[in-house]
Amino acid sequence: MRLENLTAFVTGASGGLGLAIAERFIAEGATIVAADIDRDRLDQMAETIGADGDQLTTVVLDVSNYDDVKAAINQAIADNGQLDILINNAGFSPKGTYWLETDIAEWQRVLDINLNGEYFCARSVAQHMIDRQGGRIINISSSAWRHGGVAAGGGIPYTSSKAGVIGLTRSLAKALGAYGITVNAIAPGPTHSPMTESWLPQSQDKLSESIPLGRVGEPKDIANAALFLASDEASFITGQCLDVNGGLTFS
Ligand SMILES: NC(=O)c1ccc[n+]([C@@H]2O[C@H](COP(=O)([O-])OP(=O)(O)OC[C@H]3O[C@@H](n4cnc5c(N)ncnc54)[C@H](O)[C@@H]3O)[C@@H](O)[C@H]2O)c1
Repeated sequence: MRLENLTAFVTGASGGLGLAIAERFIAEGATIVAADIDRDRLDQMAETIGADGDQLTTVVLDVSNYDDVKAAINQAIADNGQLDILINNAGFSPKGTYWLETDIAEWQRVLDINLNGEYFCARSVAQHMIDRQGGRIINISSSAWRHGGVAAGGGIPYTSSKAGVIGLTRSLAKALGAYGITVNAIAPGPTHSPMTESWLPQSQDKLSESIPLGRVGEPKDIANAALFLASDEASFITGQCLDVNGGLTFS
């Protein structure tokens, strides 16, 4: 098992990709603190995974609230004695109307969750990782930051927030490298999950024609990448963005 004796704090853990990451990490021996804004889905997750209480705890958390994030991470450290891995996965993709008519509040909400939330979590866990001289931070971005996303209302703040995640990843990698902490991003392409269920099933055949590997993503594809970045094998990799999209974009 590749993550034995390690504890990971996973945000958005009851969603498609977060759930797959949590399941995969548990199977590799990790203890998971699963944080999500959705209490019902967290309960459902605990039932689905069926891990014993020692390997999974859940916490209701809005990652856009810094005080709550700090409290949740401090509690996770107190409960487990350590946090080795942070998976910044919580995200929100608004349904778009014409972009010039989108509420400014919507723009702010997307940035609050997708960018501020990742910064708040990283900031809250950093001192603990510095004190322990090690840790892994994995930020979930999106292929949208490379190809510009969709031009509809929700696509513009979403793409901007996910590009911001790449800058955050690189600057945190510089700030934390001296302490043995790696910071990397994963940029998934279109992947089956609750976030994409309203449009991806109908579009996947057409979309797959433009993907060299000929299919869209599955949550386990992202979980595999997160496992690699969290593992010993990735100990000399930092500040990178791992594109997991079947070749949809090349950097
Ligand atoms: N599915 C895709 O095609 C795709 C592609 C690129 C990037 N991503 C990114 O992957 C991540 C996971 O997305 P997913 O596809 O699993 O979507 P999802 O909607 O299934 O999961 C997102 C999870 O985040 C949680 N969440 C939302 N707002 C939150 C908040 N304020 N605080 C805490 N939790 C919150 C939701 O409750 C949900 O469980 C997101 O960051 C998303 O932007 C997804």
